Amino acid sequence: MPKKNFRAASALVAVTTGCALLLTACGQDSEGGSQEKKDKKDVTIGIAMPTKSSERWIADGRNMTASLKKAGFATTLQYGEDDPDQQVAQIENMITQGVDALVVAAINGEALSNVLQQAADADIPVISYDRLILGSPHVDYYASFDNEKVGELQATYIVDKLGLKDGAKKGPFNIELFAGSNDDNNTKYFFNGAMKVLKPYFDKKQLVVRSKQTRLNQVTTLRWDGGTAQKRMDDLLTSSYSTARVDAVLSPYDGISIGILSALKSDDYGSKAKPLPVVTGQDAEVASVKSIIAGQQTQTVYKDTRALAEVAANMVTAVLNGKKPEINDDSTYNNGKKVVPAYLLNPVSVDKSNYRKVLVDSGYINAKELG
Ligand code: GAL
Repeated sequence: MPKKNFRAASALVAVTTGCALLLTACGQDSEGGSQEKKDKKDVTIGIAMPTKSSERWIADGRNMTASLKKAGFATTLQYGEDDPDQQVAQIENMITQGVDALVVAAINGEALSNVLQQAADADIPVISYDRLILGSPHVDYYASFDNEKVGELQATYIVDKLGLKDGAKKGPFNIELFAGSNDDNNTKYFFNGAMKVLKPYFDKKQLVVRSKQTRLNQVTTLRWDGGTAQKRMDDLLTSSYSTARVDAVLSPYDGISIGILSALKSDDYGSKAKPLPVVTGQDAEVASVKSIIAGQQTQTVYKDTRALAEVAANMVTAVLNGKKPEINDDSTYNNGKKVVPAYLLNPVSVDKSNYRKVLVDSGYINAKELG
C-alpha cells in the first residue's frame, strides 16, 4: 500500500473504531510494526500559528487544540512570532517529529513552498488555516471566512454611517485607507472587497482621500502592526489634515484600528469640536470591543474562531480518513499552483448596537472581560 494510503487507512481505523486504547486492546493488530500509530491519541496534528501578539491568534491556537482533542487527536502547537523563518523551522521540526497532518496559519503566505514539499514527501496533508498558503501545490484544503465580504462589511459600514446613500449631494467626506500585511493573501481580499463598495462614492466625489494614497501598495501595514499604522496615521494627519478633518478611516484589523485611534487622539480628535472619525476593524478583540463601547473605534468584524477551528478539525478528520471534507467554495482561492478547495464561514459586522447580542450572548466574549 502506498504510504499515503497506509497513513490514511491507519488513521481511519483509529478514528472510526473510537477505541481509546491501542487497537490491540480492541482485538486488531494486523499491521505489525505500525501498531503505535493505530491509537487515535497517537495521531498527532501539528498546528502552526503566526503570533501571540494578537489575542485572536491565541484564541485560534486554543480553539484549534480543543477541536482536535475533541476529535480524538494529539496536538502540538507552535507560534512563529511573526517571523517567517521561525515558522518554517517550526514546521520542519513538526515534520521531523512525524506529525500526521499540519494546520498552518501562514505568516508569509509565499514562504512555505519548500517546507510544504518536505511535508508532501512525508505524505503529511496540509490544511491552510484562515490565510491561504501561496505558490505550493501541497495545500489540501483551506478553512477561512469569506474574506472579500469582510472588506465589504467594513466599507458598507462607513457608507451607512456617513449617510452616503441618502443622496448624491451628501459629502464630500474625507477618508483614509489602511490595508493589512502585504505578505498575507487575505489583505487584497479585504481591500478589494472594501474598494468595490467605496468606488462609486469616490467616482461621485462624495468620498475624498486627501493623501491620494489609494493603491494597495501605498496603504499596506507590514505584519498588521498597530505601531506602524499609528506612525502612518500621524504622518497623514500632518501632511494632509492641517486644515481639514478626517471623517472615516478604513481599517482592516483591530490592532491597526487601535494604532490609528492613538494617532487621532494625539491630534485632539475625540473632543466635541473634533469628533473621532468612523474607524472600522476586524476580529472583535476585547480591546477593540471596549473601545467600541467607549465610543472610540466604531465597528469591527466578528469572525467566530471557534467555528473556524471546528471546520479545520473536520477537514483534518476527513483527510486522515481518506474522505473528502465538506467544502463550500471550489473556485475563489487560487494559490498560483491550484485552486484550493475551501470552506468559508460568514463574517458579521459588529458595533455598539449589537456587540452584546453577537459577542456576549454567543459566549465569544465574557461580559466580565468588557468591564
Ligand atoms: C488576517 C486575518 C484577520 C486578522 C489579521 C491580523 O490574516 O484574517 O482576521 O487577524 O490577519 O492578524
